[in-house]
Amino acid sequence: LGIALWGGRFQGGPSEALAALSVSTQFDWRLADYDLQGSLAHAHALQDAGLLNDEEYADMVAALRLLREDVASGAFTYSPEDEDVHTALERGLLEPQYAGAELAGKLRAGRSRNDQIATLIRMYLRDASAHMRGLLVALCEAILGQAEAAGNHIMPGRTHMQHAQPVLVAHHLMAHFWPQLRNLSRLADWGKRNDQSPYGGGALAGNTLGLDPELVARELGFSEVCPNSIDGTSSRDVVLEFLYILTQVAVDLSRLAEEVVIWNTAEFGYVTLDDSYSTGSSIMPQKKNPDVAELARGKAGRLVGDLAGLLTTMKGLPLAYDRDLQEDKEPVFDAIDTLEVLLPAVTGMVQTMQVHYERLESLATAGFSLATDVAEWLVKRGMPFRRAHEVSGACVALAESRGVGLEDLSDADFASVNPLLTPEVRTVLSGPGSVAARQGKGGTAPERVAEQLAAAGEALAQY
Ligand code: ARG
Repeated sequence: LGIALWGGRFQGGPSEALAALSVSTQFDWRLADYDLQGSLAHAHALQDAGLLNDEEYADMVAALRLLREDVASGAFTYSPEDEDVHTALERGLLEPQYAGAELAGKLRAGRSRNDQIATLIRMYLRDASAHMRGLLVALCEAILGQAEAAGNHIMPGRTHMQHAQPVLVAHHLMAHFWPQLRNLSRLADWGKRNDQSPYGGGALAGNTLGLDPELVARELGFSEVCPNSIDGTSSRDVVLEFLYILTQVAVDLSRLAEEVVIWNTAEFGYVTLDDSYSTGSSIMPQKKNPDVAELARGKAGRLVGDLAGLLTTMKGLPLAYDRDLQEDKEPVFDAIDTLEVLLPAVTGMVQTMQVHYERLESLATAGFSLATDVAEWLVKRGMPFRRAHEVSGACVALAESRGVGLEDLSDADFASVNPLLTPEVRTVLSGPGSVAARQGKGGTAPERVAEQLAAAGEALAQY
């Protein structure tokens, strides 16, 4: 290790093995700018408490600003000997072109890497959340765009992957929109809990120097200070909650992706993916593969692992700070980095995929998917549903034995199953008739879906 932030009570330096284990700079360096923002606010608190005079404060601010610029440009960066981002930046500040040893040595008073890191991760996640929000809004717009383009076309709705009841294509697509809208809402709500600053909590118990944590919180864009310095420095539930939300995004993407993989097969033929979102095979010249969807499905597993890993790290940790807490960063950074590349790809795939409406329509009523409509039509004529279910089931058995659809049975066939089955039953024996009858709010009737699309556009506009 190079310079250390500790060592006064040590006889020798750390072993190479310890240094190799302990170092976190390779992943926490991405917090460097937040660390310097924290230092600027902390310098102000030191001045406010009379621990830096006006000249020292002005010099400190100038040094920190210069270091900030140099970090941004890459003119200053960490070295392999720096234990962590805090150490690397202190090494920089000590250099004469920044603050120099005398002044730089004053900055560390009253703070600890424990309260620093707990604050920096919140600042970093606040920005990451805003970025994720933009990517999620774009995905929601793409899904909404496809739903709007689908008009009143119908398709098979499935449960257990079996033909169940016809639905509007738009209705099905929108079932992938609302979960992501809820994820947007989760991010917004998470932001309230993330909006407390741990800075000023010191190692765990607060500081003796008269530093004002509220001043620091304000300068760092937080609405308030964590009410308990032990909790502020040693809890990571805001990190976990954020990671859960990203994992939920990925799991929801994965369910959409799995459908796209199936829809894109020759057997289904529901959609064709655009060339720009498909890949080929190195051996089979004919292949056009849905790799974007498959990677979405695969990377969801990776995020589940990130979340499970950090939950396990946190379980059973005694208060206050423990070094285990350093393990919060890689999983959440990995989840963010993964979604940053995945979301635009899935958005593009959805936006550009061609939907084969005629194919979907032609299958919409396959598999006797109008049987519920027949039963409910009988209910409207006074038959108890229990009996209507049996009667409709008998119609299915008759049609199946002949190898035809329900709509192919003759008036006489229907009458032979039950006299209440008059020729008027044919009003519901069509895909459009079936969806048109599902008039309740949230149902797949075209009027309801039109309302749904309008509501979705309004809801999305809030983000
Ligand atoms: N790198 C640590 C973390 O990420 C912060 C440093 C705290 N180190 C310490 N020895 N208290 O949590």
